[in-house]
Amino acid sequence: MAYLGAAYPWVKAAHLIFVIFLMAGLFMMPRFFVYHQETAPGSPEDQRWIEREGRLLRIILNPSLILVWLLGLMLMVEIGAWHFGWFHLKLLFVLGLSGYHGWIAGYTRKLARGQRPMSDRQLRMMNEIPGVAAAVIVIAVIVKPF
Ligand code: HEM
Repeated sequence: MAYLGAAYPWVKAAHLIFVIFLMAGLFMMPRFFVYHQETAPGSPEDQRWIEREGRLLRIILNPSLILVWLLGLMLMVEIGAWHFGWFHLKLLFVLGLSGYHGWIAGYTRKLARGQRPMSDRQLRMMNEIPGVAAAVIVIAVIVKPF
């Protein structure tokens, strides 16, 4: 459904700008978690990390996720993307990335409650997920292998 007209490249540019903000936040947060976990629950340093993580989630991550979805869905409707195999692959990994976002929000709340459920090694392994997902998504969208 062609409804965006000359606005299409602007919507795509805005989509990518918020993709960059989102990815930056998703890469930063598990690093924050590793540093945060070294502090004793209730200490002044613990409080500072709780504030930093809360701000990153509220100001960068959550608004970016909403805008990436909104703008991406606008692009999808414009080009009828759901007919294409590459889009199904992309959507699968975007859903995975959104789940990862949910894990980040949940872990932020756990740390704020004084819990430290994962080891540093596990957190560093979690940190690989957004990179792999972004690589698959970009290849799906740019190369369109099927
Ligand atoms: C949240 C749901 C998302 C939806 C529904 C969506 C949908 C779309 C659509 C339909 C296009 C236009 C493709 C074209 O013009 O050929 C597009 C472009 C693009 N998207 Fe997304 N997207 C989403 C999230 C993401 C994420 C998370 C990333 C990267 C990690 C991403 C990366 C890109 C890139 C690189 C382009 C530009 C492709 C080009 O130059 O043609 N998107 N997106």
